Amino acid sequence: MTDLTWWQRGIIYQVYPRSFQDSDGDGIGDLRGITQRLDHIVDLGADIVWISPIFPSPMKDFGYDISDYRGIDPMFGTLADFDAMIDAAHARGLRVLLDFVPSHTSDQHPWFVESRSARNSDKRDWYIWRDAGPDGGPPTNWISEFGPSTWAWDDQTQQYYLHIFLTEQPALNWRNPAVQAEMLDTMRFWYDRGVDGFRVDAITHAAPDVDKGDHPVNPDWHDGMNPSLRLLKVHSKNQPMNYDIVRMMRAVTQEYPDRLLLGETDGTLAEVTSYYGTQGDGFQLPFNFALLDIPWTVPEIVRTVEAYEAALPDTGWPTWVVGNHDCIRIASRVGSDLARVALTLLLTLRGTPTVYQGDELGMQSADIPPELVQDPWEKQVPGKGLGRDPARTPMPWDDSAQAGFTDGTPWLPVFTPPDGTVAGQAAGDTMLAYVKRLTALRQTTPALLSGEYRTISAADDLLVYARGSGDDAIIICLNFADAPRDPGLSGHTLLSSANAADGPLHPSEARLIRPT
Ligand code: GLC
Repeated sequence: MTDLTWWQRGIIYQVYPRSFQDSDGDGIGDLRGITQRLDHIVDLGADIVWISPIFPSPMKDFGYDISDYRGIDPMFGTLADFDAMIDAAHARGLRVLLDFVPSHTSDQHPWFVESRSARNSDKRDWYIWRDAGPDGGPPTNWISEFGPSTWAWDDQTQQYYLHIFLTEQPALNWRNPAVQAEMLDTMRFWYDRGVDGFRVDAITHAAPDVDKGDHPVNPDWHDGMNPSLRLLKVHSKNQPMNYDIVRMMRAVTQEYPDRLLLGETDGTLAEVTSYYGTQGDGFQLPFNFALLDIPWTVPEIVRTVEAYEAALPDTGWPTWVVGNHDCIRIASRVGSDLARVALTLLLTLRGTPTVYQGDELGMQSADIPPELVQDPWEKQVPGKGLGRDPARTPMPWDDSAQAGFTDGTPWLPVFTPPDGTVAGQAAGDTMLAYVKRLTALRQTTPALLSGEYRTISAADDLLVYARGSGDDAIIICLNFADAPRDPGLSGHTLLSSANAADGPLHPSEARLIRPT
């Protein structure tokens, strides 16, 4: 247990700052708000806070469109508020990860303003500009993540620029050494200010190779699917250069003692695990999104866990996640009854878990009326269930107005989950109280921190697996059925989501057992 590092032992907690806590009444969360609420994260038993972007931004993609990498957006506060937040977090033993967005800037970033000002501008090659194709249209058929073509026409300089996400998020040209130097220096700026690492955004899109031409059609695409999946992104995603970029980021990270890089690495199992690098030169934690996409059934979950365990490189430390600011809330996806089972799975698989803010309360994806929609993706591709507002509603803290999130009008409506607010769930048979007991057990149980994973049985909607071996072993029983199930094991119950002591598992119960 002692030979694990902080990011192997720890639980990551994702803060979506707009929706965590507002301190100044503008209806949008901010840094002082985060500082006020750090104790919630400590009480939960999490150790590492990842904060989605807080940098100056026109907020077209809510902070993932950055116009200054070295500042704080006034909406979120000041650099002094940031330093105070870091100090307060460190004083509580929490580590802090910032979101680093290397693959694109805002179109309002001074670099892009200069780049688009003239073809011979010094910064022209900081972005990806190309002439029109032979038919006068875009140079390639590529489709952006949020719907339309990845190419936007610039009237003044008569060329197209590439954007993988919104038109207002032009792609940076990482093939230009000046871009590399500047961006890597940005990491040093924040490391010097005391951050413990970065979650690296959209890394799979960092080195699109536009001169390779058109993307082939995806034969599996059909009407009703996400339009951006209509083509196979073979020339834009996971290009060989991506690994060079990660190596550069890791080298900068190694200039500082004990820092962490967590990468947003979506893709096949082979693609995800390739981001560990070969000799400790990749991400320490390439995000593993496998549990986000599968049907929520015992056979699919077992297959996913075993395939990932088998594919990990020898030195690769696993990592798991069941929710974030880009997808449906886990409690809505699996249903409220199974929310505790899902969080138990997340927190008892081998590896570093990331808990998305509010999932510890059983927050659900909210119904956002059309006139309140904020997310640009939903606005560009409406009605396909792609919008991300439902998972981004504010944290419900207590029984005061707007559940204690703000004194003003919240940017998205506040909803309280079935088990109640943070204050309301402090004690009793609630999701939050259960998750706290689970994290406390995890922190003090070597088998849960570092023990091997082994499937024991997976039948009849009942998943049983072991962590660790011998006297240390812990057995985890997850009942996905809405009927009782008997795991057929004898042992001492350490924790039950249904407060059961022994006997068959209750419907939708999660139980941790020390075998006898
Ligand atoms: C990542 C973020 C997402 C954002 C996108 C573009 O996928 O998680 O929220 O829209 O990158 O930066």
